[in-house]
Amino acid sequence: MTAAMNSPSVLDGDEPADRTVVSMRDEGSEQVSERLLKSAARLSRNAMTEIDWSQPMEPDKHGCSPEWSTLYGTDYWNEMTEEQRVSLTRHEFASIMNIGIWFEMILQEMVLRDHYVGDYHSAEYQFALVEVADECRHSLMFAKASEKMVGTSYRPHPTVARLGKIFKVTAKNEVAYAGILVAEEILDVFQRGCMRDDRVLPFIRTVNEIHVLEESRHMKYAREEVRDAVKGIGWARRQFSALAVAAGAYMIVTSLVQPQAYADAGLDVHRAMAERRTNSHFQAMIRSSCTHLMEFLDEVGLLTKPALRYYRRAHMI
Ligand SMILES: [Fe+2]
Ligand SMILES: [Fe+2]
Repeated sequence: MTAAMNSPSVLDGDEPADRTVVSMRDEGSEQVSERLLKSAARLSRNAMTEIDWSQPMEPDKHGCSPEWSTLYGTDYWNEMTEEQRVSLTRHEFASIMNIGIWFEMILQEMVLRDHYVGDYHSAEYQFALVEVADECRHSLMFAKASEKMVGTSYRPHPTVARLGKIFKVTAKNEVAYAGILVAEEILDVFQRGCMRDDRVLPFIRTVNEIHVLEESRHMKYAREEVRDAVKGIGWARRQFSALAVAAGAYMIVTSLVQPQAYADAGLDVHRAMAERRTNSHFQAMIRSSCTHLMEFLDEVGLLTKPALRYYRRAHMI
């Protein structure tokens, strides 16, 4: 654990240490944004200067906690040498960071579009720009970390990439912000699980820590935007929005670890994909981590029956 993690400021209520998030539902977007702006001014970090990127990597350190590997607990995992497991978790986590970059690109565009003509003097507008700046630095951090850890890139399937392109130019209001929230929550659960694990490469732990800290502000902002957007919407729009968000969530979760990551780790891709599909351990990890997200979607009326089907298929509920 680094000094920054021990800092009282991380735990003083701005950035909850656990996932019982401080309730701000009665405050409204402007008040929440004001608090988040103050928090961002005090607590923003820069991985490019904070991490010594020239340090050699310890050969026995993982890319993520072994328990977060998509193959942990399978027969394939049990047959692997420790060296293969280390290589697998590094490629898996590089893939997760790369899919994170893909989504952060979508997110930045959606947030900028949403505030194209806005109340520039408002805290809400100013926090939107902080979020875009954060995401830009995060993507750079993920890109640099992937370069160092595996020296390659992972991209979503071309069909998913095309759907993402449509999503980023059409999504607005609750679809945009609930979509953002879902992606941020999913990445967050992985990173919280790995940031204090000393079996993981130290620079990756720092990457996780920085991302978890800054994303907790983004998630509060997104929740508030969703609450505002769903006020008074009709049945049809609610049904459509809930389904669009669930479909997006399904694509993100199933894209996180690309098949190429298994190939690059020296595994048989077909066997890895087959064992991952039936890996009840990994499915349980995803399910238990999405509890808060599902509660929130239910609270704002976006957990409709058709949407539930997608979340079940992705093992998020
Ligand atoms: Fe981010
Ligand atoms: Fe974010």
